[in-house]
Amino acid sequence: MLNWDDYNESDKVQKPQKIQETQPVIAEEKVEAVEENISEYSPVEAGDRAKQAQEAIDKLDTRQGEEELEGLAGRVQVDDKAMINCRADLNQLVPFKYDWAWQKYLDGSANHWMPQEINMTADVALWKSQDGLTADERMIVMRNLGFFSTADSLVANNLVLAIYRLITNPECRQYILRQSFEEAIHTHAYQYCIESLGMDEGEIFNMYREIPSVAKKASWGLKYTKEISDPGFTTGTDETDKLLLKNLIAFYCVLEGIFFYCGFTQILSMGRRNKMTGTAEQFQYILRDESMHLNFGIDMINQIKIENPHLWDDQMRHEAAQMILEGTELEIQYARDTMPRGILGMNAGMMEEYLQFIANRRLVQIGLEEEFEGATNPFPWMSEIMDLRKEKNFFETRVIEYQTGGALTWD
Ligand SMILES: [Fe+2]
Ligand SMILES: [Fe+2]
Repeated sequence: MLNWDDYNESDKVQKPQKIQETQPVIAEEKVEAVEENISEYSPVEAGDRAKQAQEAIDKLDTRQGEEELEGLAGRVQVDDKAMINCRADLNQLVPFKYDWAWQKYLDGSANHWMPQEINMTADVALWKSQDGLTADERMIVMRNLGFFSTADSLVANNLVLAIYRLITNPECRQYILRQSFEEAIHTHAYQYCIESLGMDEGEIFNMYREIPSVAKKASWGLKYTKEISDPGFTTGTDETDKLLLKNLIAFYCVLEGIFFYCGFTQILSMGRRNKMTGTAEQFQYILRDESMHLNFGIDMINQIKIENPHLWDDQMRHEAAQMILEGTELEIQYARDTMPRGILGMNAGMMEEYLQFIANRRLVQIGLEEEFEGATNPFPWMSEIMDLRKEKNFFETRVIEYQTGGALTWD
C-alpha cells in the first residue's frame, strides 16, 4: 500500500533541487500577489467583511436547511424510509432499512478493477495480422464494441439524470453511485479496446445511430428514459410511479439483463478459443459487474412492488411482460445480424434459445410467468462465469492494490 512518506531514493535527491530551482519565481509572484491584495483593502473594509460574514451566519435557519436537503426535520426512523416518494431525510444513511442495497455497494466496491490493468498485446497483434481472424469474427468484435461503447453511457445517464433523483432512500442511492462509476469504467474499457486495436473511433461510436440492429436497441432504451429524465418530472401519482417502474424494468431487466447477453456470449466465446483474450477479459470483468447491477435492479423493482402493491396491477404486469418480450426479440434480431453464419461454436438459432431462457428468468425474477416453455441454456459456461462466488474468488487471486493508485506521483 502506498504511503505518502514512501518515495524512492531518486525522489529524495531530486525533490529539494526542484524546489530550489522554482522557489525564487514562486516567492516573487506570491509577494506581488499579497501586496496587491493588501493594497485593495483598507483595515476598515476588512472589518466590515468579517462583520457581514458573521451576520449572514447568524441568520442561517437550520430547520429550513433540513427541508431543503430533502426530507423532514428530525431523526430518521427505519419505518420512515421508502423506495419512492419518501419524505425522510435522505442525507442520513443509517439506520439501515435496505441492507441488500448496502451489501451490494460493499460487494461492488470489493470488486474494483481498471481497464489498463489488462494486457492487450496479444489482441493488438491478432487484430493487425492479415489472417488472424475471419471476417465474421472481426465483425463480431466491431459490432459489440459499437453497441457497448454507447450502451453503458445510456445506462449511466439514465442512472444519474433520472433514477438517482427518484429513488428516495440513501442505501439504494449509495449503490447507484457505485454503479454509475462502474458504468464509467465500462465505457472506459470499451474505449481502451477501441484505441488499443486502432479502430476507426467515429465508425464505432456512431454504430448506435447507423447500424439498424444496434440503433434499435439504443432507441428502445431511450424511449423509457425520455419522460422521467425531464428535470420537472416527479413521482407521486399512479401514472408517474408506473413510469419510473417501467424505466427500471427497461434498463435493469432489458438493457442490462437481455441486451448485453448476445454480445457478452460472443466475445467470451472468442476468449475461450484463445482469440482476443484481452478484450474477452475486459468483457469478463464487465459481465461480473453487470450481473450485480441486474440483481440490484430486480431487488429494487420487487421492493417497490412490495411497498406499492397497487402499482402492480394487471395492466402493469401485461406491459412489463410485453417489454421483456420486445427486448428479447430485438436481441434475437441482433444475434441474427451479427451471426449470419455459425461461428465460434454457436449460431443465431442457439442464441435465440439462450435469449428465451434468459427472458424466462427475467420474467420470473419480477414475479411474472415464463413465456418460452422448455427453453434451455445452450451455454452453461456463461452461468459459471457469472457466478458471483466464483467472481469473488477470481478477484481474490489478484495481487494489485488499488490504493497505490498507479498515477500518483510527486510532480
Ligand atoms: Fe456497464
Ligand atoms: Fe450496468
